Amino acid sequence: MHPLEQSFRDLAAKAPSDFAATGNADLLEAVRVRYLGRQGALPELMKQLGGAPADRRGALGKLANEVKAAVAAAFEKRRAELAASASSAPADLDLTLPGRRPRLGRKHPLTQTLDRIVKVFHGLGFTVIEGPEIEDDWHCFDALNTPADHPARDLQDTLYLKDGRLLRTQTSTVQIRVMESHPPPIRIVAPGRVFRRDEVDATHSACFHQIEGLYVDEDVSVADLKGTVEHFFKELLGPCARTRLRPHFFPYTEPSFEIDCSAEALGLRGKEWLEIAGCGMVDPNVFKAVNYDPERWTGFAFGMGIERLAMILHGIDDIRLFYQNDLRFLRQF
Ligand code: DAH
Repeated sequence: MHPLEQSFRDLAAKAPSDFAATGNADLLEAVRVRYLGRQGALPELMKQLGGAPADRRGALGKLANEVKAAVAAAFEKRRAELAASASSAPADLDLTLPGRRPRLGRKHPLTQTLDRIVKVFHGLGFTVIEGPEIEDDWHCFDALNTPADHPARDLQDTLYLKDGRLLRTQTSTVQIRVMESHPPPIRIVAPGRVFRRDEVDATHSACFHQIEGLYVDEDVSVADLKGTVEHFFKELLGPCARTRLRPHFFPYTEPSFEIDCSAEALGLRGKEWLEIAGCGMVDPNVFKAVNYDPERWTGFAFGMGIERLAMILHGIDDIRLFYQNDLRFLRQF
């Protein structure tokens, strides 16, 4: 036997077992390069064909091609085997182990509180609407009958942007935006974030949430306001919830009131009443600012803090807990 023939036959015998011994695609590739790569064993042998005697060259060339095809086939077979085992379950998979329970998400306590509030107002025919958090002086103050020298407009209290715009300090801005873009009658609630230059502590946050309400129609009276407030708190807190309107001042309502709720209904002892919201009859100057005829249209407005209500409802004593995303806190709701 010509030595070259022996070399081809040896290689043909050895390559398949070398492929079969590889345990992953990287090792297999390394073996493939060793046999079939440009400087691999097979091409090296083929280069020697030219030096074989002329009468043997034809047979050797045929053998070389057969060996090459066989080695390539052995490689391909192993490649397919490895690919199949990589996609099936690992050998140490234990189907009898207990599974991992997927963690259930839930709504943030502020969202839950807001949902409860909105549900009651939906029942009364109010529509939910939102307004921008970046506002201008007009929508946050001027149109709300709040004069330029009002303390709420101080740099001390309001966060201004460099271009003169500001972060809204109250959702009352949405009253103006809605009336500017819609003719009466109006029946909306507007939840959203508000911003104030406050030192953060257990009861203050520079960003918190309010919900605003606005009702505009002909012949709206304080009785409508009072009836709505009473109904709302009874729906939210139960039929025992009592409320009272206590005279107060807001620039955009006249008369204005603070809404107190019976502490008992809120699950609190020690106090009889708890101040919970502001409200009043829309000031004629506000109607003038949005080109509503103040002789024809009347209405009431109200606003309340969502954090404050959620804190009272759930006995939460630190407002910062709402924003820390600590699951130990959030999982309790
Ligand atoms: N804007 C008030 C605040 O931020 C809340 C408020 C009071 C809203 C009276 C009103 C209202 O619409 O009529 O404290």
